[in-house]
Amino acid sequence: MVTPGFAERLVEWQQVHGRHGLPWQGTSDAYRIWVSEIMLQQTQVTAVVPYYQRFMRSFPDVGSLASASEDHVLQHWSGLGYYARARNLRRAARLLMSEHGGVFPRTAAVIETLPGIGRSTAAAIAAFAFGESGAILDGNVKRVLARYFGVRGWPGDPRVQAVLWAHAESLMPGRDVGIYTQAQMDLGSLVCVRGRPRCGECPVRPDCVAHREQLTASIPGRPPKKVLPHRRAALLVCVHAGTVLLEKRPPTGVWGGLWSLPETDGNDAEAIKCIANRYGVSVADCEPLTSFEHGFTHFTLALEPWLVRVAAAAPATHEPGRMWLALDDAVGAALPAPIKRLLRSLARETGRLFSRA
Ligand code: ADE
Repeated sequence: MVTPGFAERLVEWQQVHGRHGLPWQGTSDAYRIWVSEIMLQQTQVTAVVPYYQRFMRSFPDVGSLASASEDHVLQHWSGLGYYARARNLRRAARLLMSEHGGVFPRTAAVIETLPGIGRSTAAAIAAFAFGESGAILDGNVKRVLARYFGVRGWPGDPRVQAVLWAHAESLMPGRDVGIYTQAQMDLGSLVCVRGRPRCGECPVRPDCVAHREQLTASIPGRPPKKVLPHRRAALLVCVHAGTVLLEKRPPTGVWGGLWSLPETDGNDAEAIKCIANRYGVSVADCEPLTSFEHGFTHFTLALEPWLVRVAAAAPATHEPGRMWLALDDAVGAALPAPIKRLLRSLARETGRLFSRA
C-alpha cells in the first residue's frame, strides 16, 4: 500500500538534501536546461559542470549552436563520450531554427519530436522550463520506483518499463513539478543508489517494498545474461629441454599482440602431432591435459591443452614471432591470464613434464 504523499515527501527532502546551485538550475531558459539534460545522460554531475560552462560560453543560445560547425560542437564534447548526443544537439538546434522560428517548444509532446530527446528527457525539460506536469523515468528513477513498488524484473524489459511508467504517472503531484522532478533524480543518484542504498536517509522508506522485504539487492533486476556462442581451440604446450614454445598472437583480435601458446583446432593426438610437426618439431609423444573455459565478452572459449613432448626442435621454431622460453620465465612473461595459469600449474609438475623430453 502506497502512502499518499510520496511526491510531497520528495519535494520536502529535495529542498533540504537535494542538489542546488548547479549552473543549469535557477533558470527557466529551456535551451540551457535542454543542453544540461543531454550532457547529464550517462554522465555524472561533477564531470558535466566544466563541459557545460564551456559549451554555454561558446553556444549561449539555439542560434549559435545551430550555426556552429559539427567539428566545433564535437570539440566541446571531447572527453564526455557518447558523441551522438552532441551531433543530435546540433541537428535539433538547426531544426529549431528552421521549423520552430528559433523558439524552444513549450510542451513535452513537441519537445520529444526533436532528435536525441526521449520521453523522459522531454518531460524533464518541460517540467524545469515551463512547469509542465509529466512523469519522468530515467535510469535513477526506474531504480527508485522499482524498489518502492517492489517491481521485480529488469527495467529494460518493455513490460517492466510499462509498469514503471504507470507508477511514475500515478505519483505525479499537482504542484511543485520542477522540484519533484529534480527530487526523483537526486534521490536516485544520492540515496537510492545501486550498490548500497542509504535507506536510513530516504524520505519514503516507510512505504518502500524493497526496504521492507529486504529486496534492495535484487531490485531492480539485472539484464538477462546473454547466451554467448561457444568456440573451442586446442593449445599446444610444446616442451623441450626445460623450455616451452610460445608464439606471438596477431595484433588484432583476442589477446592481440600477446605471447601465447600455439593454437589450433585439432582434436585428437594424431592431429596435434601433425600440427606440431608444422612448427618444425619432432614429437616424442603427446597427451591431452585438462580442458578449461575462458569467457570473452562475445564468446566462451573452451581450451583443450595438449602436452607435446618434443624430441628435437628445428630452426623454424626460432623464427620471429616464436620463441622457446624456460617454463619459469614463461610464467612471469606477459601472457594471457588463463595461459599463465595453465603454465603455472604445469611448472609445478616440472618433473613429469620434462621426464622424457
Ligand atoms: N540526470 C539527468 N538530469 C539530471 C538533473 N537535472 N540533475 C541531476 N542529475 C540528472
